[in-house]
Amino acid sequence: MEKLKIAIQKSGRLSDNSLELFTEAGINLTNGNRRLISVSSNFPVELLFIRDDDIPQYVADKVADIGIVGENVILEKLYPVRVVHRLGFARCRLSLAIPKSEDYFSRDYFNGKKIATSYPGILKKYLTDNHLNADIHHISGSVEIAPGIGLADAIFDIVSSGSTLISNGLKEVEKVVDSEAVLIASNDLGEEKNKVLDNLIFRFKAVKAAHSNKYIVLNAPNDKLDQIINVIPGMKSPTVMSLALPGWSSVHSVLNESEFWDVIDKLKELGAQGILVIPIEKMILN
Ligand code: PRP
Ligand code: ZN
Repeated sequence: MEKLKIAIQKSGRLSDNSLELFTEAGINLTNGNRRLISVSSNFPVELLFIRDDDIPQYVADKVADIGIVGENVILEKLYPVRVVHRLGFARCRLSLAIPKSEDYFSRDYFNGKKIATSYPGILKKYLTDNHLNADIHHISGSVEIAPGIGLADAIFDIVSSGSTLISNGLKEVEKVVDSEAVLIASNDLGEEKNKVLDNLIFRFKAVKAAHSNKYIVLNAPNDKLDQIINVIPGMKSPTVMSLALPGWSSVHSVLNESEFWDVIDKLKELGAQGILVIPIEKMILN
């Protein structure tokens, strides 16, 4: 079978999570220690470790079939590639930031200012859309030090935790766009490679669903069973089994992380006991 060539970031914000995703999807990688290439022994893929900014071009040129990249990179420049799956990690935003001592009332602040950025394309569009007239200073790295050394009045850059801004005496004043890791693919992969890609996305979805859901087991007094089942509907419906102790049942179900603590509080109020919450290894969606 033809191997699907996947470009992933060699080192940086996306690389650990990207590799972890393959491991969790059950894809074994030989010499996965970030050499140039890593081949899987049990799935038809080959990983190429590349600088993140170069990944879209590799995919566009079909040197790689697909790639994992920050959305920010493909928003900055248009490439003939398509986003086939959103991965949900490496979430960040692209924002405008200014020295923290500056007063800020509105976007008009940026009129006549000089803004340093590695994302001139996204910034230019934002300025145009908002009828702002600022001077874009394109630099490739260490953007956050630009105001401090007098190179610019403001910056436009990736903000994740915000600690880079704080340690450079800057404050975020406008969020322009959100970003996360996405899977991109070349436009015409061919039938065989498309099949491998579908299978890969299927596995990634199972991994993601497993992360955001927990298996829950609890003991319920029979007179509260209906109410408890209402609180934890599960995938189809919960499993209910009688306990040896009369008047009690054991309830098994699946719970989404987003509603987790609310549900636990309700279950306690309804008299549920012996609540166990168990991580799910994989969750197959169909
Ligand atoms: C980005 C950005 C900041 C930092 C922000 O760099 O340029 O330096 O992350 O993160 P924080 O808000 O958590 O401090 P990144 O590591 O992505 O490198 P790159 O822009 O060169 O790819
Ligand atoms: Zn980069």
